[in-house]
Amino acid sequence: MEENKKVIFTRPHKTIYATEDTIIKVFDNRYSKSDVLNEARNEALVEENAELNIPSLISVSETPEGWCLVRDKVEGSTLAELMEREPEKLETYMEMFVDLQLTVHKQKVPTIKRLRHKLMDQINSLKDLGATARYELAVRLESMPKHTKLCHGDFNPSNIIVDKYGKLWIIDWAHAAQGNASADAAMTYLLFCLEDQKKADMYMKLFCDKSDTARQYVNRWLPIVAAAQMTKKKEKEKELLMKWIDVVEYQ
Ligand SMILES: Nc1ncnc2c1ncn2[C@@H]1O[C@H](COP(=O)(O)OP(=O)(O)O)[C@@H](O)[C@H]1O
Ligand SMILES: [Mg+2]
Repeated sequence: MEENKKVIFTRPHKTIYATEDTIIKVFDNRYSKSDVLNEARNEALVEENAELNIPSLISVSETPEGWCLVRDKVEGSTLAELMEREPEKLETYMEMFVDLQLTVHKQKVPTIKRLRHKLMDQINSLKDLGATARYELAVRLESMPKHTKLCHGDFNPSNIIVDKYGKLWIIDWAHAAQGNASADAAMTYLLFCLEDQKKADMYMKLFCDKSDTARQYVNRWLPIVAAAQMTKKKEKEKELLMKWIDVVEYQ
């Protein structure tokens, strides 16, 4: 691995380093080789097929610390940092964020995984939920319209970098797939809800207005994306996610 690298973030099971012109994302052994190669493949597919600004993937390799991805570094701030730093401009930033997500949804990446297959696998892996709840979720998923729009899968402001020219770059394509854009919006709404309800509400309204989507339609995805998020096994999210998944029983 390159010299002169410094740690910029540590996350559970991941460390992010920066060098002068690259970002190195190192995964520990909780991530399998295929998880890391899948993230790399998604980044490469999107870089090659979509008309979006994606920092170029430079290499994938095994190091003494674990498997790692190296990408070009974008100088700038994430949208999450800008929203934090300039709260008076929150609405402007949220509009940029939604507009960018709608641009992602216009892209086609024909060989990327199907979102409904990924979601079905995630539902089926949640053995703790019980067979009845899993069945309800699977039936609901099966009933949703099947589309092939590019979905980022973890579209949140920390995955958008604004460079000094105001150009927006999208990183972190580990969960990308092709499918129904409203599922992607439901996932983004859920991620906001886990952090800040005010931002979540602002996001949902802007997404529905700009994409001319009924809020009830996005809502139908909420139990499904909550189940998907549950597979990440974050203890502090469990209570909220269970509440969202339970909605199934009463609808
Ligand atoms: N290419 C890049 N250029 C600049 N900063 C980056 C780049 N890639 C990642 N980062 C920074 O590192 C953080 C974590 O990277 P990310 O790939 O999103 O990992 P995680 O899976 O932990 O969210 C980002 O939120 C961003 O601040
Ligand atoms: Mg990220």
